[in-house]
Amino acid sequence: MQRIFSGIQPTGVPHLGNYLGAVRNWVALQADHECLYCVVDLHAITADHDPKTLAGQTRDLAAALIACGIDPQKHVLFHQSAVHAHVRLGWIFTCVARMGWLNRMTQFKDKAGKDRENVSTGLFTYPNLMAADILAYHATRVPVGDDQKQHLELANDIAQKFNHDFEADFFPNIEPLILGPAARVMSLRDGAKKMSKSDTSDQSRINLTDDAETIANKIKRAKTDPEPLPSEMEGLEGRPEARNLVGIYAALTDTTHADVLAQFGGMGFGAFKPALAELLVEKLSLIAAETRRLLADPGYVDGVLRDGARRAAAIADPIVDEAERLVGFLKV
Ligand code: AMP
Ligand code: TRP
Repeated sequence: MQRIFSGIQPTGVPHLGNYLGAVRNWVALQADHECLYCVVDLHAITADHDPKTLAGQTRDLAAALIACGIDPQKHVLFHQSAVHAHVRLGWIFTCVARMGWLNRMTQFKDKAGKDRENVSTGLFTYPNLMAADILAYHATRVPVGDDQKQHLELANDIAQKFNHDFEADFFPNIEPLILGPAARVMSLRDGAKKMSKSDTSDQSRINLTDDAETIANKIKRAKTDPEPLPSEMEGLEGRPEARNLVGIYAALTDTTHADVLAQFGGMGFGAFKPALAELLVEKLSLIAAETRRLLADPGYVDGVLRDGARRAAAIADPIVDEAERLVGFLKV
């Protein structure tokens, strides 16, 4: 059975992009894989964060993942800072990766913007830690949204260079799993920008905690164009906002853009938006209610994470021990 690894940052409330681009696929993959899912709090401190809220956000996110359908009994759910293998291997990879490789990372360029001299060095080396997250478990399949593709290519470059430099066929090749019609959910205010936790406008995203009225309002006010929906895929070209809403509908109903257009082609957004809002409310209200129920007993969630960390470490520790031997560290 192939091993799956994926991660999500506890930097705010998870949104529809996280759910449709990643978490929904994590849930489905549990049926026929051994899965490890990680709340990556070490990654969350690469940008400014509030030490007073990080622990709570880590717990909240773990609860939301369980509410979405992650099964912490059959699979492993944990938080990154509790398993030291990540930083141990992350450091080794920071010494394997080349400056030129990291310089090409578009997410760093986007996040650093004009402030390059002033961002943390952790933001720059972040992809090394991400590679370590996966490879510390010898995981081979990684379900992510489209924005993480370049980081996974880098992880494969790091694994290959490690194997080459230390003359061992040790780290496997990683296969990105970028799945479904909503692998890149766009902002509701601008079809050219991805939906993101860091967008200053809350109107740009649907949070998994939004109530029915908020969801309906955000969809009603979502940017669109005046044309009715087309009946064929080609009709979505040059209409990023329409394509985005159709993709969201398709993902939520386990269908495709073409199926949704077959149903709604010729109709205006006045008809499509209420149908989409209703569908979102139906799916997300269950998740929000279950998250609240789980968080009523924080001790339960913390227990799940503690147990997850123990099981994760049992897999990763021997792998990272062996990586350290290959690098040449004294083992006494
Ligand atoms: P992050 O919130 O950056 O930790 O992302 C967690 C997961 O959600 C990753 O697999 C991302 O690729 C995915 N993701 C984040 N934003 C989006 C989006 N707008 N559309 C699709 N997937 C996304
Ligand atoms: N970098 C990912 C993001 O921002 C989160 C992440 C960290 C991750 N480590 C990972 C995803 C390992 C997949 C595998 O979305």
